[in-house]
Amino acid sequence: MGFTVAIDGPAAAGKGTIGRAVAERFGFAHLDTGLLYRAVGRRMLAGEPPIAAAQGLTPEDLAEPDALRTAVIAEAASKVAVIPEVRAALLDFQRAFARRSGGAVLDGRDIGTVICPEAEVKLFVTASAEVRAARRCKELQEAGYPTDYATVLADVRGRDARDADRATAPMLAAEDALVLDTSEMRVDEAVAAAFAAVRAKRPA
Ligand code: CDP
Repeated sequence: MGFTVAIDGPAAAGKGTIGRAVAERFGFAHLDTGLLYRAVGRRMLAGEPPIAAAQGLTPEDLAEPDALRTAVIAEAASKVAVIPEVRAALLDFQRAFARRSGGAVLDGRDIGTVICPEAEVKLFVTASAEVRAARRCKELQEAGYPTDYATVLADVRGRDARDADRATAPMLAAEDALVLDTSEMRVDEAVAAAFAAVRAKRPA
């Protein structure tokens, strides 16, 4: 039977960390939907029109996720993500993943609102732009991408605005989502809150 955990929220709020922990704890499959948009963004940077890129995406595009986690690709991802036909091309794959038997966790921007409004658990994970920029800066530096805080903060703010203001599937907390502001929460506290939300909805 399907069981979906939808995790939405802005860049670098901790969706991935929480999503991976929930998937591992409850034995669910996990999909970071941002990687789909990043893969389309990378193809666009290589010269392909974005709609064709989204329609032609293959598993190989996602084979090395770490290579997709650069700031340049993030920027391209948020540009292709405003195109309704790009979003439409990625819809069926995400919906099928969400309802797979055995349970699924998806993180993104529109999972609880558009991809899987019937998700059993919806979380909206957020934090101040400054806290998120500091976290992303550290992640990028650790991954070997030299960067500075001011640039990352400007990128995060620009992407937030584009994601929240677009006409199709804007980043938005679903009405029935549990909002977790992780600005002053430790990772283990945020993960514990997510576990409790899943436990409350799981059939015994
Ligand atoms: O990891 P981070 O939170 O920085 O970004 P991401 O989740 O990898 O997403 C990259 C970009 O893809 C976002 O800024 C959005 O523009 C877009 N995206 C989206 O529109 N819808 C999703 N479900 C996931 C990502």
